[in-house]
Amino acid sequence: MDPKLVTRPKNYKPYKAARAQLARDGEALWKDTKLSTNGMSCNTCHVGGTAAFAPTFAKPYPHMVAMATERSGVKQVHLDEMVQFCMVVPMAAKPLAWSSRELAALTAYSGELQKKFKANPCASKNPCAAKNPCAARNPCAAKNPCAAKQ
Ligand code: HEC
Repeated sequence: MDPKLVTRPKNYKPYKAARAQLARDGEALWKDTKLSTNGMSCNTCHVGGTAAFAPTFAKPYPHMVAMATERSGVKQVHLDEMVQFCMVVPMAAKPLAWSSRELAALTAYSGELQKKFKANPCASKNPCAAKNPCAARNPCAAKNPCAAKQ
């Protein structure tokens, strides 16, 4: 995957609005299957806003995310870049416009989820369940410190 698709453009100006409102919009978009071309929504994998997150999610951005490094060679991502990454790879869609309200909203909501995840990284429920389309990915690898508790 071309790393340019998920790299912040020069002179990037994210859409600005009250954060609480953006987070609310993002929560609705989280379950919107129209964002993808394969019938998935963010919530298909990240069920309930906790599943399929690896322990890296607890770290401040930018940080390394294994899936992004493997698929596009990027060494670290900002949160909005990770949203774009999941749009392009698992959602099989185009990246959102960088200045769009949708990207700002999904980023704000992901940031809220991150706060909860930091408080309890082992809340990531059972990302390895058979019906989870992410099962082939490795959020369940032995290096996941939460694995033993699932
Ligand atoms: C087909 C499954 C799938 C879908 C659909 C999906 N994701 Fe992900 N996402 C993953 C997996 C797997 C990871 C963990 C990757 C890793 O840690 O290597 C992840 C990681 C993330 C991370 C955190 C990365 C980190 O550790 O910092 C964010 C934020 C994220 N996804 C947002 C989204 C958003 C927003 C959507 C919807 C637009 C979405 N995802 C749709 C599978 C999916």
